[in-house]
Amino acid sequence: MNERWYKQAVIYSLDVETFQDANGDGIGDLPGLISRLDYLSRLGVTCLWLNPIHPTPNRDDGYDITDFYGIDPNIGSLGDFAEFLHQADNRGLRVIIDLVVNHTSDEHPWFQSARSDPRSPYHDWYVWSKDEPPDRRQGMVFPGHQKETWTFDEEAQAWYYHRFYDFQPDLNFANPEVRAEIHKVVAFWLRLGVAGFRMDAAPFILELTRPGEPEPQQDFSILDDLHAITTWRRGDAVTLAEANVEKDELLEYFGDGNRLPMMFNFLLNQRTFLALARADATPVVAALEASPSIAEPCQWATFLRNHDEVDLGRLGQHERDEVFTAFGPDPDMRLYHRGIRRRLAPMLDGDQRRLRMAYALQCTLPGTPVIRYGDEIGMGEDLSLRERNAIRTPMQWTDQPNGGFSSIAPKRTVRPVITGGDYGYEKINVLAQRGRSDSLLSFMEQMLPTLRECPEFGSGTCEPIDVGHRSVLALRFEASTGSMLALTNLAARRCVADASAVSTGHAVEVFADDDYDPIDATLENLTLNGYGFRWIRLGWEIPSGPPPPTWPS
Ligand code: NOJ
Ligand code: CA
Repeated sequence: MNERWYKQAVIYSLDVETFQDANGDGIGDLPGLISRLDYLSRLGVTCLWLNPIHPTPNRDDGYDITDFYGIDPNIGSLGDFAEFLHQADNRGLRVIIDLVVNHTSDEHPWFQSARSDPRSPYHDWYVWSKDEPPDRRQGMVFPGHQKETWTFDEEAQAWYYHRFYDFQPDLNFANPEVRAEIHKVVAFWLRLGVAGFRMDAAPFILELTRPGEPEPQQDFSILDDLHAITTWRRGDAVTLAEANVEKDELLEYFGDGNRLPMMFNFLLNQRTFLALARADATPVVAALEASPSIAEPCQWATFLRNHDEVDLGRLGQHERDEVFTAFGPDPDMRLYHRGIRRRLAPMLDGDQRRLRMAYALQCTLPGTPVIRYGDEIGMGEDLSLRERNAIRTPMQWTDQPNGGFSSIAPKRTVRPVITGGDYGYEKINVLAQRGRSDSLLSFMEQMLPTLRECPEFGSGTCEPIDVGHRSVLALRFEASTGSMLALTNLAARRCVADASAVSTGHAVEVFADDDYDPIDATLENLTLNGYGFRWIRLGWEIPSGPPPPTWPS
C-alpha cells in the first residue's frame, strides 16, 4: 500500500531555467533536467517541485504567467514536459508544479482583453475600482520594492488590484467563471501526470475584502472545491500550500482534511532560525508545543531555505534583530524589512558540522522536508543580483566554465553562475563532492535514504523531551512502525544528554554525525559533539530464532 505518499516524501524544489541547460542557449531546460534525474534519484529525494514552468515575461521569476496551459518555450515544449514526467516516473520520482492562480501577468491575454473593454468577457475576471481606493498603499507583500496594491490603468481608466507587483493583477475569485477556469487548469496538469501542486499565495486567493477594510473576510469554500476537484481527478494528488499566516488561522486552511493536505510550516521555520542563532532549542520546542494538531490526512512541510527570502516577519522585533545579527549582518543581505536573501551555507559561515546538523534537524522535525536545489552542495548567494534573485543562481555541477550548467559563453547564462571565492563553482560543485566521502553531498546521499527508513519522523506523533541541556533538541516519535529518538545539539560545545526518561531497554543508533560509543540502553549518558546529532531507534531487538518465512513459503 502506498498511502499518503507525501508523508514519507523528500521534496526537492528547483527552477528548470537554472538547473541544467541542454541546448547551449544559456537557459536551463527540460531535456537538461531529464539528464539530471539519475542524480536526483541517487540523492534520495522522492518528489520534485518545479517552480513555474509556464510562458512568462519573467519579471517575477515565472510567477507572472501568460498561459496556464503551456510550457515556457525557453525551457522546452509540452512534449518535453510529457517526456520529463515519463522519465521521472521511471525513477519513481513524483512531480508537483507551482499553481500560481492568485494573479496573472499583466501581459496575459485575459488581462489584455479585460483592460481594453469593460464589456469584455474577461473584464470581471480581475478586480477593478472606478474610484481611487483610499487604502491603496496598504497590504504590500514586497515593501520597499512595491509602491501600492491598486494601480491606475490608463487603458481601462480604472484602478486594478494586485497583492504583489503591479504587473501581477489579481484574479477575481468571487467570479464563478474564474473558479471554473482554475479547476480546468488543475485538471489539465493532473491529466498530464503531475502528482499535485505547490499552491502559491493561498491566503490572497481566499480574500473577499481588500487591505484596509475593517473586517477581513475569506472564502474557504474555494479550498473545499479545489480539494474536491483535485482528488476526484487524481485520488492521491497533493496540494502543498504557501500560507504564511498566524497560528490561529492555520487550522481553517487544513480543514478536516477536506481542504489543504499540506502546508509549509513558516512559524517553525522562523523559530528554527531563532534557535540556530541562539544555539538554544527552546524556540523550536515552543513552536512545536504551540503547533495545532492537524487532521489525519494533513501534513506539514518543513524547510530551511526556499526560493524566497527567509521571512522572519512573525518573530518579535528583538528576535528578528537577533537573527539578522547572526545571519544577515549586512543591510544588503536583508529584504522587505523582514527577511534575509542568503543561502543557508554562507549564513552558517560554511561550517560543515553546523550545516549537517541543520539538515539533520530539519529531517527530524515533524513533517516532510523540502530541500532547495544547490543546498545539498552548500551553494552560496550573489548579492549583486536583484531582491530574491541572489539565491537563484545556476546549479553548480562541475569546475568547467559556467559550472557545467551551460556550454554558452561565460556571462551569457540566464543568471550569472557564482564564480570565484569560497562559493564559486570552481570550489563548490557536484563533481568535486561526488569524489569525497566526507563531502556535504555524500552526507545528504546517506542521510536522505536513512530518513526514508525512519518513517516515524515524517508521520509519527512528536514529543519534546528534556535531556538537561537547552542547546539540545530531543524529540521522541511514535508511529505504528516503531519509536525513534532524535537528538540535535545546536551549540558548538560538546555535551552529554540524559534521555533515560524514554529508555525502553533496547536502542540502536541508525544515524549520527560521528562514530559514538555503543549506546547504553539506559540512555543516561548520550554524548553529543558540538553540532552533533544522533537518531536512535527505541525498543528494537534483534529477532531471535529463525527469520520469519518469506512469501510464498
Ligand atoms: C509567492 C512566491 O513564493 C514568490 O516567489 C512570488 O513572488 C509571489 N508568491 C507572487 O507569485
Ligand atoms: Ca536551454
